[in-house]
Amino acid sequence: PTYENWRAADGYLSETLVGHDPALEAALAAQQDAGMPAIEVAPVSGKLLNLLVRMSGARRVLEIGTLGGYSTIWMARGVGEGGRVVTVEAESANAAVARKSIDAAGVGERVDIRIGRAADVLPTLVGDFDLVFIDADKESNTIYLDWAARLGRPGTVVVLDNIGREGEIANAHSADSMVVGTQHALRMLGEDPRFDATALQTVGLKGWDGIAIALLV
Ligand code: DHB
Ligand code: MG
Repeated sequence: PTYENWRAADGYLSETLVGHDPALEAALAAQQDAGMPAIEVAPVSGKLLNLLVRMSGARRVLEIGTLGGYSTIWMARGVGEGGRVVTVEAESANAAVARKSIDAAGVGERVDIRIGRAADVLPTLVGDFDLVFIDADKESNTIYLDWAARLGRPGTVVVLDNIGREGEIANAHSADSMVVGTQHALRMLGEDPRFDATALQTVGLKGWDGIAIALLV
């Protein structure tokens, strides 16, 4: 198998299970037009976030790292009417683009975008969140996991993006600060008694990467 096979299979799965979605496609176009990098989650992963929100019955979701609002829209759809997504974004220009896309997707009243560095914004939030999605600067991943534990409750679902990194995650001598930050986070998920976690590698439209999924115990 090659990356081309994996990309083709992921495209097939996206087409078959996710389908055409004008609001999400518009959000990605706006993100690209604004010059943001195309580092949002893949369609099948966005749908997974939506399903995890619904499977866990989450009504209050915290997202760390909004970017153009792609995953935000997926999760905002999942919380249903009366549900809330608080999403934290460091770049106010990104937040403005995300705001428009989220409103255009029809879920604006469910989404509260907090602008600022997450390390500054998180201490101002009040729990309990039912699900936390961490997808921001990887160097701060352990800080974000700690806040997820503090702002959650037993039963809260925590999802951490980008745990595979083309296999670099297994390199004990990595000089990449994003890899090292994620290695620290994975060690925390394995050792910190507040979490019970696993991880899945993904290959597809976004290359070779993965997500960790944890339950607060
Ligand atoms: C990158 C990818 C991501 O999904 C992310 O959240 C941050 C960075 C990257 O490839 O650089
Ligand atoms: Mg990511």
